[in-house]
Amino acid sequence: MKLIVSNHKMNLTKDEILSYIKEISEIKSSNKLIFCPSYPYLSFFDGKNYFVGSQNVSDQKMGAYTGEVSASQLRSLGIQYAIIGHSERRNILNESFELIHKKVKICLENNIIPILCIGEKKEEINQKEEILTAELKSAFDDIGDDRKNIVIAYEPIWSIGTGLVPTKEEIEETLSWIKKYIKDNYQVDCKTLYGGSVNEENISNLKEIQSIDGYLIGGASLKLNKLKQMIDILEV
Ligand code: PGA
Repeated sequence: MKLIVSNHKMNLTKDEILSYIKEISEIKSSNKLIFCPSYPYLSFFDGKNYFVGSQNVSDQKMGAYTGEVSASQLRSLGIQYAIIGHSERRNILNESFELIHKKVKICLENNIIPILCIGEKKEEINQKEEILTAELKSAFDDIGDDRKNIVIAYEPIWSIGTGLVPTKEEIEETLSWIKKYIKDNYQVDCKTLYGGSVNEENISNLKEIQSIDGYLIGGASLKLNKLKQMIDILEV
């Protein structure tokens, strides 16, 4: 079973999200669908035939943190997944390795599965392994047995929203390298997703990648006809 994670980012108005929800309630898939809308919409999703995730979480437990949302609040809404360390948060909002580590930890403490995003910038392609190592190590070090639940989304930053996608061979190489790194250093088997310009045209090609456990899809998942096409392609 593959994970199909839809990252809405900061898109869709209330009316748009309500009609989106109506349509996804009809979708049947043998894969695991996870929708990550903006915070205000989370409780509109009933999660009957899919799962619901947040796009972020506070690193703090509760209290005087204006504008933040805690893992326990998300859990109380039935949220089961959270995207952590997306490159947009790392780069635009300057989220540090330390902060991301705390967010991973607090999710696990609240039974929320962190979808940890890692990836290199275009100019870092030659140091990809160093970059990914630093991101993985800072997130995984000092996490207890629950580390087996962390899902890793490899998203080359140069591929997000650009239409540029690494070759199948490159993705296979990176995902299998991640699995091996985690197994060797943390003794667990992790799930690895690919994200970055996944769409209805390239998904049948990406599907052939052996180490791929799922997809993190931004832009193309906002359009329901495209999302449905991708779900259908992954079904066969
Ligand atoms: P994209 O975004 O599919 O629009 O490239 C993916 C992501 O940022 O998670």
